[in-house]
Amino acid sequence: MKLLIHGGFFSESSQSIETKLVKQQAMSQIIRDAYVYLKEHTAKQTVVYAVKLLEDNPLFNAGIGSQIQRDGIIRMSASLMDGKTKKFSGVINIQQIKNPIEVVSCLQEVDDRVLGGEGANTFAQHIGTESYSTEIPQRRKEYEEKLAATGIGTVGCVAIDAHGNLAAATSTGGKGFEIPGRISDSATVAGNYANGECAVSCTGVGEDIVSGALAAKIVTRVTDGIEIKSAFEKSFLELEEFDGFAGAIGIDKNGAMYWQESHPQIVFAAYDGLELTVFQ
Ligand code: GLY
Repeated sequence: MKLLIHGGFFSESSQSIETKLVKQQAMSQIIRDAYVYLKEHTAKQTVVYAVKLLEDNPLFNAGIGSQIQRDGIIRMSASLMDGKTKKFSGVINIQQIKNPIEVVSCLQEVDDRVLGGEGANTFAQHIGTESYSTEIPQRRKEYEEKLAATGIGTVGCVAIDAHGNLAAATSTGGKGFEIPGRISDSATVAGNYANGECAVSCTGVGEDIVSGALAAKIVTRVTDGIEIKSAFEKSFLELEEFDGFAGAIGIDKNGAMYWQESHPQIVFAAYDGLELTVFQ
Protein backbone atom coordinates (compact mmCIF):
# COMPACT_ATOMS: atom_id res chain seq x y z
CA MET A 1 0.00 0.00 0.00
CA LYS A 2 1.35 3.38 -1.01
CA LEU A 3 0.05 6.82 -1.79
CA LEU A 4 1.12 10.22 -2.98
CA ILE A 5 -0.71 13.51 -2.59
CA HIS A 6 -0.06 16.92 -4.11
CA GLY A 7 -1.16 20.38 -3.11
CA GLY A 8 -0.43 22.29 -6.27
CA PHE A 9 2.42 24.69 -6.87
CA PHE A 10 3.96 26.78 -4.12
CA SER A 11 4.26 30.36 -5.29
CA GLU A 12 7.26 32.11 -3.71
CA SER A 13 5.89 35.44 -4.84
CA SER A 14 2.65 35.27 -2.93
CA GLN A 15 3.40 33.10 0.08
CA SER A 16 5.79 33.32 3.01
CA ILE A 17 8.21 30.78 4.51
CA GLU A 18 5.74 30.40 7.39
CA THR A 19 3.03 29.39 4.92
CA LYS A 20 5.45 26.92 3.36
CA LEU A 21 6.10 25.24 6.72
CA VAL A 22 2.41 25.17 7.59
CA LYS A 23 1.67 23.61 4.20
CA GLN A 24 4.35 20.97 4.72
CA GLN A 25 2.87 20.12 8.13
CA ALA A 26 -0.62 19.93 6.67
CA MET A 27 0.58 17.63 3.87
CA SER A 28 2.30 15.33 6.40
CA GLN A 29 -0.81 15.07 8.56
CA ILE A 30 -3.15 14.50 5.62
CA ILE A 31 -1.03 11.76 4.05
CA ARG A 32 -0.67 9.99 7.42
CA ASP A 33 -4.45 10.12 7.97
CA ALA A 34 -5.06 8.90 4.41
CA TYR A 35 -2.63 6.03 4.88
CA VAL A 36 -4.47 4.86 8.02
CA TYR A 37 -7.67 5.02 5.96
CA LEU A 38 -6.06 3.06 3.08
CA LYS A 39 -5.42 0.11 5.42
CA GLU A 40 -9.19 -0.49 5.65
CA HIS A 41 -10.38 0.86 2.29
CA THR A 42 -9.81 0.61 -1.44
CA ALA A 43 -7.55 2.86 -3.48
CA LYS A 44 -10.66 4.49 -4.96
CA GLN A 45 -12.17 5.25 -1.55
CA THR A 46 -8.82 6.50 -0.26
CA VAL A 47 -8.09 8.99 -3.04
CA VAL A 48 -11.53 10.52 -2.43
CA TYR A 49 -10.85 10.65 1.31
CA ALA A 50 -7.43 12.29 0.84
CA VAL A 51 -8.70 14.87 -1.65
CA LYS A 52 -11.60 15.71 0.69
CA LEU A 53 -9.08 16.46 3.47
CA LEU A 54 -7.16 18.70 1.07
CA GLU A 55 -10.37 20.43 -0.06
CA ASP A 56 -11.26 21.10 3.60
CA ASN A 57 -7.94 22.86 4.25
CA PRO A 58 -7.99 26.56 3.17
CA LEU A 59 -4.24 26.46 2.50
CA PHE A 60 -4.95 24.65 -0.76
CA ASN A 61 -6.74 25.85 -3.88
CA ALA A 62 -9.61 23.36 -3.92
CA GLY A 63 -12.87 23.27 -1.97
CA ILE A 64 -12.42 25.81 0.86
CA GLY A 65 -9.85 28.35 -0.33
CA SER A 66 -10.66 28.03 -4.03
CA GLN A 67 -9.71 30.84 -6.38
CA ILE A 68 -12.28 33.39 -7.51
CA GLN A 69 -13.07 33.79 -11.20
CA ARG A 70 -13.16 37.06 -13.12
CA ASP A 71 -16.84 37.67 -12.40
CA GLY A 72 -16.36 37.25 -8.63
CA ILE A 73 -17.78 33.71 -8.49
CA ILE A 74 -15.98 30.54 -7.38
CA ARG A 75 -16.36 27.57 -9.74
CA MET A 76 -14.60 24.33 -8.92
CA SER A 77 -13.71 21.19 -10.86
CA ALA A 78 -12.77 17.70 -9.73
CA SER A 79 -12.50 14.15 -11.01
CA LEU A 80 -11.94 10.57 -9.96
CA MET A 81 -10.69 7.62 -11.94
CA ASP A 82 -10.89 4.09 -10.64
CA GLY A 83 -8.11 2.08 -12.23
CA LYS A 84 -9.96 -1.16 -11.51
CA THR A 85 -13.21 -0.37 -13.33
CA LYS A 86 -11.64 2.26 -15.66
CA LYS A 87 -14.52 4.58 -14.78
CA PHE A 88 -13.82 8.32 -14.95
CA SER A 89 -16.24 10.76 -13.29
CA GLY A 90 -16.03 14.52 -12.94
CA VAL A 91 -17.66 17.85 -12.23
CA ILE A 92 -16.73 21.01 -14.12
CA ASN A 93 -17.38 24.49 -12.75
CA ILE A 94 -19.56 23.43 -9.83
CA GLN A 95 -20.58 26.15 -7.34
CA GLN A 96 -21.47 26.62 -3.68
CA ILE A 97 -20.46 23.26 -2.25
CA LYS A 98 -17.67 22.29 0.14
CA ASN A 99 -16.44 19.05 -1.42
CA PRO A 100 -16.62 18.63 -5.21
CA ILE A 101 -14.81 15.28 -4.86
CA GLU A 102 -17.79 13.82 -2.96
CA VAL A 103 -20.14 14.69 -5.81
CA VAL A 104 -17.65 13.15 -8.24
CA SER A 105 -17.59 10.01 -6.12
CA CYS A 106 -21.42 9.73 -6.37
CA LEU A 107 -21.20 10.20 -10.15
CA GLN A 108 -19.22 6.94 -10.41
CA GLU A 109 -22.55 5.16 -9.90
CA VAL A 110 -24.56 6.90 -12.64
CA ASP A 111 -24.51 6.64 -16.43
CA ASP A 112 -23.76 10.33 -17.11
CA ARG A 113 -20.51 10.60 -15.26
CA VAL A 114 -19.14 14.04 -16.19
CA LEU A 115 -21.39 17.03 -15.46
CA GLY A 116 -20.75 20.72 -15.93
CA GLY A 117 -22.15 24.02 -14.67
CA GLU A 118 -25.84 24.06 -13.79
CA GLY A 119 -26.13 20.31 -14.39
CA ALA A 120 -23.43 19.65 -11.81
CA ASN A 121 -25.04 22.08 -9.35
CA THR A 122 -28.45 20.46 -9.78
CA PHE A 123 -27.02 16.96 -9.35
CA ALA A 124 -25.26 18.06 -6.14
CA GLN A 125 -28.57 19.39 -4.78
CA HIS A 126 -30.35 16.22 -5.88
CA ILE A 127 -28.02 14.00 -3.82
CA GLY A 128 -28.52 16.24 -0.79
CA THR A 129 -25.26 18.22 -0.84
CA GLU A 130 -25.59 21.28 1.39
CA SER A 131 -25.00 24.75 -0.04
CA TYR A 132 -21.64 26.07 1.20
CA SER A 133 -19.48 29.08 0.36
CA THR A 134 -15.82 28.08 -0.06
CA GLU A 135 -14.64 31.69 -0.23
CA ILE A 136 -11.98 32.81 2.26
CA PRO A 137 -10.90 36.43 2.90
CA GLN A 138 -7.40 35.86 1.46
CA ARG A 139 -8.82 34.82 -1.93
CA ARG A 140 -11.20 37.81 -1.97
CA LYS A 141 -8.21 40.08 -1.23
CA GLU A 142 -6.23 38.49 -4.06
CA TYR A 143 -9.21 38.84 -6.33
CA GLU A 144 -9.66 42.48 -5.46
CA GLU A 145 -5.96 43.10 -6.09
CA LYS A 146 -6.24 41.12 -9.33
CA LEU A 147 -3.38 38.96 -8.11
CA ALA A 148 -5.22 35.69 -8.21
CA ALA A 149 -3.16 34.47 -11.16
CA THR A 150 -0.25 33.80 -8.76
CA GLY A 151 -2.14 30.96 -7.12
CA ILE A 152 -1.54 28.03 -9.43
CA GLY A 153 -2.78 25.19 -7.28
CA THR A 154 -4.80 22.04 -7.36
CA VAL A 155 -4.89 19.02 -5.07
CA GLY A 156 -4.68 15.37 -5.91
CA CYS A 157 -4.00 11.86 -4.71
CA VAL A 158 -2.90 8.59 -6.31
CA ALA A 159 -2.96 5.34 -4.36
CA ILE A 160 -2.41 1.60 -4.59
CA ASP A 161 -4.36 -0.49 -2.10
CA ALA A 162 -3.69 -3.85 -0.45
CA HIS A 163 -5.19 -5.67 -3.47
CA GLY A 164 -3.03 -3.82 -6.01
CA ASN A 165 -5.87 -1.59 -7.25
CA LEU A 166 -4.94 1.89 -8.41
CA ALA A 167 -6.95 5.13 -8.37
CA ALA A 168 -6.46 8.86 -8.94
CA ALA A 169 -8.45 11.89 -7.76
CA THR A 170 -7.92 15.59 -8.45
CA SER A 171 -9.75 18.75 -7.33
CA THR A 172 -9.20 22.43 -8.10
CA GLY A 173 -10.44 25.94 -7.53
CA GLY A 174 -8.98 26.81 -10.95
CA LYS A 175 -6.32 29.31 -12.05
CA GLY A 176 -7.95 32.32 -10.48
CA PHE A 177 -9.38 35.31 -12.32
CA GLU A 178 -10.25 33.15 -15.32
CA ILE A 179 -13.02 33.90 -17.81
CA PRO A 180 -16.27 32.32 -16.52
CA GLY A 181 -16.88 29.14 -18.49
CA ARG A 182 -13.20 28.24 -18.75
CA ILE A 183 -12.67 24.47 -18.42
CA SER A 184 -9.96 23.20 -16.09
CA ASP A 185 -7.82 20.13 -16.85
CA SER A 186 -8.68 18.68 -13.45
CA ALA A 187 -11.93 17.10 -14.63
CA THR A 188 -10.38 15.73 -17.83
CA VAL A 189 -8.24 12.69 -18.59
CA ALA A 190 -5.32 15.06 -19.17
CA GLY A 191 -5.36 16.09 -15.50
CA ASN A 192 -6.41 12.82 -13.88
CA TYR A 193 -6.12 9.28 -15.22
CA ALA A 194 -5.76 5.72 -13.95
CA ASN A 195 -6.02 2.14 -15.13
CA GLY A 196 -4.71 -1.18 -13.85
CA GLU A 197 -1.12 -0.22 -14.68
CA CYS A 198 -0.68 3.34 -13.43
CA ALA A 199 -2.46 6.31 -11.80
CA VAL A 200 -1.53 9.99 -12.33
CA SER A 201 -2.82 13.32 -10.96
CA CYS A 202 -1.62 16.68 -12.34
CA THR A 203 -1.38 20.29 -11.20
CA GLY A 204 -0.36 23.46 -13.00
CA VAL A 205 -1.81 25.47 -15.85
CA GLY A 206 -4.80 23.55 -17.17
CA GLU A 207 -4.37 24.71 -20.77
CA ASP A 208 -0.78 23.36 -20.80
CA ILE A 209 -1.79 20.07 -19.16
CA VAL A 210 -4.56 19.54 -21.71
CA SER A 211 -2.23 20.49 -24.60
CA GLY A 212 0.22 17.89 -23.31
CA ALA A 213 -2.52 15.29 -22.58
CA LEU A 214 -0.30 14.73 -19.57
CA ALA A 215 -1.92 12.19 -17.23
CA ALA A 216 -3.39 10.04 -20.02
CA LYS A 217 -0.10 10.12 -21.90
CA ILE A 218 2.00 9.03 -18.90
CA VAL A 219 -0.43 6.22 -18.02
CA THR A 220 -0.58 5.04 -21.65
CA ARG A 221 3.20 4.92 -21.87
CA VAL A 222 3.42 2.86 -18.67
CA THR A 223 0.67 0.57 -20.01
CA ASP A 224 2.72 0.09 -23.18
CA GLY A 225 5.67 -1.13 -21.12
CA ILE A 226 7.72 2.00 -20.47
CA GLU A 227 8.86 2.31 -16.85
CA ILE A 228 7.17 5.08 -14.87
CA LYS A 229 10.26 7.31 -14.60
CA SER A 230 10.86 7.25 -18.36
CA ALA A 231 7.15 7.75 -19.05
CA PHE A 232 7.18 10.90 -16.90
CA GLU A 233 10.43 12.18 -18.38
CA LYS A 234 9.34 11.71 -22.00
CA SER A 235 5.95 13.33 -21.37
CA PHE A 236 7.50 16.29 -19.55
CA LEU A 237 10.08 16.69 -22.33
CA GLU A 238 7.19 17.10 -24.75
CA LEU A 239 5.78 19.88 -22.52
CA GLU A 240 9.01 21.81 -23.05
CA GLU A 241 8.12 22.34 -26.71
CA PHE A 242 5.60 24.96 -25.55
CA ASP A 243 7.04 25.73 -22.09
CA GLY A 244 4.14 23.89 -20.46
CA PHE A 245 3.68 24.64 -16.76
CA ALA A 246 2.77 21.41 -14.98
CA GLY A 247 3.52 19.00 -12.19
CA ALA A 248 2.34 15.44 -11.69
CA ILE A 249 2.42 12.55 -9.23
CA GLY A 250 2.12 8.90 -10.25
CA ILE A 251 2.22 5.36 -9.00
CA ASP A 252 2.36 2.10 -10.98
CA LYS A 253 0.99 -1.37 -10.29
CA ASN A 254 4.31 -2.44 -8.74
CA GLY A 255 4.17 0.44 -6.27
CA ALA A 256 6.87 2.48 -8.03
CA MET A 257 6.16 6.17 -7.33
CA TYR A 258 7.31 9.11 -9.41
CA TRP A 259 6.73 12.85 -9.61
CA GLN A 260 7.99 15.62 -11.82
CA GLU A 261 7.51 19.33 -12.36
CA SER A 262 8.30 21.56 -15.32
CA HIS A 263 8.77 24.62 -13.12
CA PRO A 264 9.46 24.89 -9.38
CA GLN A 265 7.86 23.92 -7.01
CA ILE A 266 5.06 21.39 -6.75
CA VAL A 267 4.02 20.65 -3.15
CA PHE A 268 3.68 16.93 -2.62
CA ALA A 269 4.07 14.08 -0.17
CA ALA A 270 4.65 10.35 -0.56
CA TYR A 271 4.10 7.63 2.05
CA ASP A 272 4.44 3.85 2.05
CA GLY A 273 3.75 3.33 5.75
CA LEU A 274 7.45 3.54 6.61
CA GLU A 275 9.03 6.50 4.90
CA LEU A 276 7.23 9.83 4.64
CA THR A 277 8.58 12.34 2.12
CA VAL A 278 7.26 15.90 1.89
CA PHE A 279 8.64 18.04 -0.92
CA GLN A 280 8.14 21.68 -1.66
N1 GLY B 1 -4.84 22.80 -12.96
C1 GLY B 1 -5.92 23.57 -12.56
C2 GLY B 1 -6.44 24.48 -13.57
O1 GLY B 1 -5.72 24.95 -14.44
O2 GLY B 1 -7.60 24.80 -13.51
